[in-house]
Amino acid sequence: MKSKWFVTLFGAVPFAAAVIFLQSCGGEGGPINGGNGGLPSVTKEFEALLTSNQRNASYVGPQACAGCHGDTGDHWEQTMHAEKKVTCERCHGPGSVHVSGPSKDNILTYPKVTNSVVCAQCHGPIHSQWTFSQHSKFISDPVEEAVLDPARYGKSSRCVACHSGLFRTQVVDGGVDIPNMDDEAIRTIAEHTLSDVPQVANCATCHNPHSNTGNLTDDGKEVQLRHKIFNDDISKVGPGATAASFTTFDHICAQCHNGRGTNPADNRLEAGTARPSMHDSNQYNMLMGFGGVEGSGPVIRNTAHANAPGQCSKCHLPDSRHTFTVSYDKSCAPCHTAADAAARIQSTKGEVIDELLALRYLMENWAAITFGDRDLWDYTSLITAEGKTPPDQTLVPIEVKRARHNYYFVIRSGDYGAHNAPYAKHLITIGSQNMQRASSGAAQGSSRQSLSFDQKLAILEADRARARDADKLAWDE
Ligand code: HEC
Ligand code: HEC
Ligand code: HEC
Ligand code: HEC
Ligand code: HEC
Ligand code: HEC
Ligand code: HEC
Ligand code: HEC
Repeated sequence: MKSKWFVTLFGAVPFAAAVIFLQSCGGEGGPINGGNGGLPSVTKEFEALLTSNQRNASYVGPQACAGCHGDTGDHWEQTMHAEKKVTCERCHGPGSVHVSGPSKDNILTYPKVTNSVVCAQCHGPIHSQWTFSQHSKFISDPVEEAVLDPARYGKSSRCVACHSGLFRTQVVDGGVDIPNMDDEAIRTIAEHTLSDVPQVANCATCHNPHSNTGNLTDDGKEVQLRHKIFNDDISKVGPGATAASFTTFDHICAQCHNGRGTNPADNRLEAGTARPSMHDSNQYNMLMGFGGVEGSGPVIRNTAHANAPGQCSKCHLPDSRHTFTVSYDKSCAPCHTAADAAARIQSTKGEVIDELLALRYLMENWAAITFGDRDLWDYTSLITAEGKTPPDQTLVPIEVKRARHNYYFVIRSGDYGAHNAPYAKHLITIGSQNMQRASSGAAQGSSRQSLSFDQKLAILEADRARARDADKLAWDE
């Protein structure tokens, strides 16, 4: 697999060495344990997390903790943090009171210790990058739903497993079996998320604070990642995968960015006619090339992108930059120059968008001829949302159901061919072929060539938003 990495387009250029950013001054004052060894001081934001029982405590050093928390101490000993004297108390706060009367109320612990403020004391620049990313933001709806109906939004839909960094850390990575949790436990974690750590994915979600994990970066560095950065075993997230396997998939990004078991088999398409079966999170499926209706001929599943050793992190964390945005000069090297990458993105997106619109036009024409209304090709709840009455779905041939699955599959991934251009194009081609069959070869091409790029994109993004709304309606019912 990895040998493809060396098939580069412009010759191998060494990667820029990853740079560690540390804040030179972590804020004012704060108690220091026998000299802070050049580490930044404790911050006010961190102190604000401490309980009143702990405010007057003093620092006792890691040996004092090891006596009772031996395992954690042993693991921590192996880490870069131990080497740099980042002791237990730098994250858990001063421990003298706790040591003389251990309780969860006199030491900083779950849930508040998972707040990124703890790490920001020293990793200021990385923390600021992260605050620019969607991961530091919060989509409250799925978590609020889990407070109201934990059995549904916690256990069966597992919304909180991907939309609450805290839930993922404590429950999913804590190895707790979700279906066996009682509703009250789910509700409590969802409430803690809303009140204490309203973050989709924070430092402690991705990094194990105590242990080296062996999940190395693409250049072989141990950065205590909870999951692998490279995993090409798609069976755990493939069509029909159980909620348990796609929620716990061992991949630092695809544990959340997967298609949630989306299934393109004909019988599933016949059964699921209300809304698209993939979530907006199907980027891993797209990168690896699985989850669309592929037809019976040869399938181009991968580009070299899926085989880059860092997979998502290669492009989305160049030089460990935690905004999770790509940069053409750093992410795409050594395979493309920045100019080549930019040009390829522009032409690929243009082509994919045109082809998607052409496919949409085929579906519209089919609906106009069959039902006298161009909008009736769509999933039923999306039609209902437009104030129209959807046709009986037994009157919609399987070819149309395949085409609309592929249409939404490409749109919802949101990258318009950047991740896996050959697969995206293949799915659109299969969709178009199916529409030709449904229309007995009478299908017409697109009439939208005169629109600007932005106008075309707006049509597709509107469909993506409609699909999201259909998801929302489904859980509001
Ligand atoms: C004398 C034994 C002892 C020592 C020493 C000790 N702890 Fe504890 N610690 C405990 C016990 C017992 C609990 C569980 C308290 C409870 O469940 O109410 C605990 C709980 C904790 C928790 C919360 C765990 C959870 O499940 O939420 C943290 C964090 C913690 N200790 C950190 C430390 C740190 C850091 C030190 C060193 C400064 C330390 N402990 C020293 C016995 C000790
Ligand atoms: C870099 C920050 C950091 C350091 C250093 C650190 N912890 Fe933690 N600790 C955390 C975070 C964040 C959590 C909650 C997330 C989790 O459970 O993985 C946690 C959870 C815990 C817990 C409760 C959950 C569990 O795993 O049992 C205990 C007990 C604990 N730490 C003890 C310690 C001790 C003892 C040390 C020193 C040997 C230490 N920690 C060093 C950040 C840190
Ligand atoms: C008191 C300061 C301090 C705090 C608090 C702190 N770190 Fe660090 N961290 C460091 C230092 C120092 C290094 C070593 C950097 C170097 O010199 O290469 C480091 C290294 C790391 C590394 C790279 C490990 C390696 O082997 O290169 C990771 C990942 C990391 N920290 C994550 C975290 C997370 C997550 C938290 C919060 C749970 C946290 N840190 C809290 C100071 C801190
Ligand atoms: C397998 C992980 C996973 C599960 C389970 C999951 N989501 Fe998501 N969801 C994501 C990811 C990842 C995104 C972001 C995709 C993107 O931005 O391209 C997302 C996006 C969303 C959005 C759109 C956010 C926006 O920016 O407008 C909503 C709303 C949403 N999810 C609601 C839910 C609800 C409700 C549930 C439960 C019924 C749920 N999700 C279950 C991973 C998941
Ligand atoms: C969504 C997952 C994710 C989140 C959230 C996250 N990280 Fe990371 N982090 C990674 C990955 C992946 C890498 C390895 C990137 C690479 O390949 O260089 C990394 C690398 C690092 C490194 C090593 C940097 C180096 O130059 O070697 C540090 C330190 C670090 N993260 C700290 C943090 C801190 C602090 C936060 C919170 C503000 C955080 N991370 C949040 C995934 C994450
Ligand atoms: C705990 C679940 C989780 C993990 C782990 C995770 N993400 Fe996300 N990610 C999300 C959710 C949910 C959103 C959408 C947040 C929103 O819209 O507010 C998101 C948003 C994003 C976005 C922004 C999308 C946009 O619409 O602008 C990017 C890019 C991204 N993630 C990449 C990554 C990468 C790369 C990794 C691995 C290093 C990763 N994510 C790990 C859940 C996760
Ligand atoms: C070859 C580089 C590359 C790899 C590998 C890659 N991405 Fe991307 N990704 C991109 C580019 C480029 C875009 C931006 C497309 C654009 O210009 O809008 C993007 C866009 C995204 C978006 C935003 C989509 C939106 O809603 O706008 C998310 C989320 C995302 N990627 C997540 C991931 C995840 C998760 C992985 C791993 C499974 C991954 N990416 C792997 C290059 C990559
Ligand atoms: C591991 C090497 C590697 C990395 C890193 C990489 N690419 Fe690629 N990319 C390739 C290869 C190989 C192809 C296929 C080239 C071909 O078929 O001509 C490709 C194809 C593409 C395509 C499809 C265009 C076409 O001509 O079919 C786009 C778009 C693209 N890359 C953009 C990017 C962007 C943007 C980045 C960085 C964010 C990136 N790539 C990172 C190796 C890479």
